[in-house]
Amino acid sequence: MKKILLLLALALLQTVSARAAGRQVLPFNDGWSFYKMSAPGDVSDVDLPHCYNGVDGTRPGYYRGEAIYSKVFDAPERGSGDRVFIRFEAVGFQAGVSLNGVELGHHKGGFTAFCYELTDLLRPEGNLLEVKVDNRKDMTLAPINADFTMFGGIYRPVSLLVLPKGHITPMDYASPGVYMEQLEASPQMASGAVKVLVDGFSQKQLGKLSLHTELTDVNGNIVARSVSDSKMTHNGFTALVDTLRVVNPELWDGRRSPALYTLSASLADGDRIIDKVTQTVGFRTVTVDHDKGLSLNGRPNNIRGVNRHQDRPGKGWAISEADHLEDMELIKEIGANGIRLAHYPHAEFFYDLCDREGMLVWAEIPFVEQAPDTEEFAASTKSQLIELIRQNYNHPSIFCWSLFNELGGEPVALVSELNDIAHAEDAGRYTTAASNSDNSPLNDIPDIMAYNTYPGWYWADPATMQYAIDWKYRPDKQPLAISEYGAGASVKHHGILTEHPEPGGEYHPEEWQATVHEINYREIDKRDFVWGTFVWNMFDFASAGRTEGDTHGMNDKGLVTYDRATPKDAFYFYKANWNDEPMVHISGKRFSPRREDARQVKVYTNCDGIYLIHNGVRYYPDGNPQAHVYTWDNIPWADGDNRFTAHATRDGKTIYDNCIISYNK
Ligand code: GCU
Repeated sequence: MKKILLLLALALLQTVSARAAGRQVLPFNDGWSFYKMSAPGDVSDVDLPHCYNGVDGTRPGYYRGEAIYSKVFDAPERGSGDRVFIRFEAVGFQAGVSLNGVELGHHKGGFTAFCYELTDLLRPEGNLLEVKVDNRKDMTLAPINADFTMFGGIYRPVSLLVLPKGHITPMDYASPGVYMEQLEASPQMASGAVKVLVDGFSQKQLGKLSLHTELTDVNGNIVARSVSDSKMTHNGFTALVDTLRVVNPELWDGRRSPALYTLSASLADGDRIIDKVTQTVGFRTVTVDHDKGLSLNGRPNNIRGVNRHQDRPGKGWAISEADHLEDMELIKEIGANGIRLAHYPHAEFFYDLCDREGMLVWAEIPFVEQAPDTEEFAASTKSQLIELIRQNYNHPSIFCWSLFNELGGEPVALVSELNDIAHAEDAGRYTTAASNSDNSPLNDIPDIMAYNTYPGWYWADPATMQYAIDWKYRPDKQPLAISEYGAGASVKHHGILTEHPEPGGEYHPEEWQATVHEINYREIDKRDFVWGTFVWNMFDFASAGRTEGDTHGMNDKGLVTYDRATPKDAFYFYKANWNDEPMVHISGKRFSPRREDARQVKVYTNCDGIYLIHNGVRYYPDGNPQAHVYTWDNIPWADGDNRFTAHATRDGKTIYDNCIISYNK
């Protein structure tokens, strides 16, 4: 009997010590109750992530109001003295959180994480957590107006954190509490200054505390380690600090080789590990030059990429990891090397994906269009910027923080303050912004600048992209990028146009979008001083107020349809230009039947040896290609079905694309 008791005691001791050795992060997404304040009797059981505009988000009258989420739960098992926190990754747009009837706090901001402590209010069983969510327009909270649906809900995951009494704090604007500031990054040496913010220790305990840091590479090899008991104050917390150095590091080199390291930061009292947080980090140098454009680790690396909105049909912003992965695969397929995560902070999971896939990321706060000149608006906008930066500080993929998008008015003071805050928070990254006004004083504030421009859609001919760029490229101005360009397209509408359709109209032929991108991009591709270009948009997205294209409530400038099922022809134009994987695509397959004015056959390919077989007869393309676009204008279309095969070769390998298009003489 004694032996059994001894074994049980040992097992209990191991469990306690293992738990005491560190934190627990417990998913807190299942078993919530939900109702809209507009229908309090209509209570449903939901799991998170959840969005209450998944269905009505494309309709002008979509629900913008308050909703109540609640969850009854037992206190998590924990060691004596342990502390319990709740961390929301994002709630659209404001959240009033209470536990057992006691208010914990009110968070403003629809896209960033926030954290509250539960410890002292927890009962052993039957705790009631309530979250009042509000996605109404609020003149004190950005974005007040924007061209996207303002989805409501607890739309990203929630976790309970069970931390030892003394711990690495989750309360620094809900950041991980561990920051690595890159000091240098060269093929010979990389180094980072690590700061670990702590809480819950007495002065005496702090005196005995040490910081153990390690960097391990992708193969688990320890490439740097250090122990330190140096302390400082950072962001109002006591921080343990140290510097890690890696000789002959693997640099994070974008899409070429996104080398990552795992930083583990452990608090220790002698040999006893008290708490530990790991972060994914990477070393790289991004420089942007007025005339040479963007370089990554000293090599030219202009961004040729896309904008991404996060919503999906039927679920709004409450998307899954599988959804994020699918979006990334499509962005990789066209061969983009960077992403503007417009117009707001995106999910932590997606920034992690960008780190792993080597995508340079433009990160952004949702300061769009309107800027009321009030202290409350300024305070909440600054807070959203600090949350964005501190929560995402360690991502090597992020190279800039964007302060605004297309602001009306000239809130120079606020934008200047945001610029200063970003520099104070993070001296290692550029500030930028996206403007649609050539002469605003706001444009002179960020370190590097970008413009939204739509030649060939909202105005003029696609070829005027040359002027849209060159008129902004001035020696006295910052380095220049194009943060948005593009055109709408329905995969159900077809026709050959000589000028843009009515942008707000219901006819958005797919062929015109492809034409705009072919011609816009031809001008972009001649200008290496443009440090970045971002197609607007990678995916169609919900904008409830729009009444255009084949579906009202949508912005259809995506290269891919809302459900991600159908890449449009323009998608394949970029794939031919950006992705080196051999490909060939007959454009206009859906444009059937054709008529006299639509006889041209167009093929995108990054291969050579291209020819077209039409009803069994071989035809070589007319003239020389531009940007991988080949055309045939003299195909003798037959009445009825016409069979086409595009034949292309690369390195002795032949690839094909086939289709049947009918023709009515
Ligand atoms: C603007 C704006 C986008 C908007 C786009 C459009 O540039 O920044 O948010 O969706 O134009 O009109 O499609």
